Amino acid sequence: MDKQFYIDEINRLKKEKTAVIMAHFYQTGDIQDIADVVGDSLALAQKAAETDADIIVLCGVHFMGETAKILSPDKKVLIPDMEAGCSLADSCPADEFEKFVKANPDHTVITYVNTTAAVKALTDIVVTSTNSKKIIDQLPADEKIIFGPDKNLGDYINSVTGRNMLLWDGACHVHEQFSVEKLIQLKKENPDAHIIAHPECKSVVLKMADFVGSTSNLLKYTSNPDVNKFIVVTESGIIHQMEKMNPDKIFIPVPPEIEGQTCHCNECVFMRKNTIEKLYLCLRDETPEILIDEEVRLKAVKPIVRMLEMS
Ligand code: 13P
Ligand code: SF4
Repeated sequence: MDKQFYIDEINRLKKEKTAVIMAHFYQTGDIQDIADVVGDSLALAQKAAETDADIIVLCGVHFMGETAKILSPDKKVLIPDMEAGCSLADSCPADEFEKFVKANPDHTVITYVNTTAAVKALTDIVVTSTNSKKIIDQLPADEKIIFGPDKNLGDYINSVTGRNMLLWDGACHVHEQFSVEKLIQLKKENPDAHIIAHPECKSVVLKMADFVGSTSNLLKYTSNPDVNKFIVVTESGIIHQMEKMNPDKIFIPVPPEIEGQTCHCNECVFMRKNTIEKLYLCLRDETPEILIDEEVRLKAVKPIVRMLEMS
């Protein structure tokens, strides 16, 4: 089938079924272009909580679909590929995290949204990279905090808030793998470019960055009228929106540190499992559907609602 067939059918089915398509910035350009909402993890959660649609098709990874279902249990939440997981969420199994929480009973438990519903059920407040500083700044200075699962984001928040949060040892395979050597070389070749990085990157990369932020904040930063060239240290899907918003500017992706690899394939394999064809099939057949045990959902919804209130 040609791409136009999928585009026409998705638009037809969307109206017929009163469905809303939400896409994360790391999706391919064609999926972002057909989506009703394109955003970061916080925006997708906020829109999922507000929508009147009967069906939410979440083009992102599994935890994003779960967050939408937790907030909108009466809606049918679909995801184009059930295998679209997240290495960061996988680095924090709920049974192990529960032991960590129990071993530190006097701590407030804050988790990044990149977790399973079962981990959220063990959490006091969920955060995203957009609101983490704002939320943590609202807690008393002497509050003891456990932060999981991303040690790089946790380290970064500790550095910008002056906290000493106890960190879970998890990481994202995409953001951990950016090559520092290639980043230095790109900066040498493009001294006028600003380095912009997601806080899931290692601290050595964040120290080199002119700006550190969530996907939506990186995107906003690119409209800075004084800068025309950016070295982008996050998943390359975001460059689609950056180029749309700034057609005259230059965006340079940073390659990962993989032996013998010369391509710029800094892509999240999980995010890229979704395709326009799978999006069409999932809307047509209304599967795969995200389902969550109600007992877990009732526990997991509290820290997400708390996040939305504190954002
Ligand atoms: P954002 O919340 O910045 O969109 O990040 C989501 C994510 O998975 C980053 O790897
Ligand atoms: Fe998870 Fe990393 Fe992919 Fe984001 S980029 S969804 S943190 S694996």
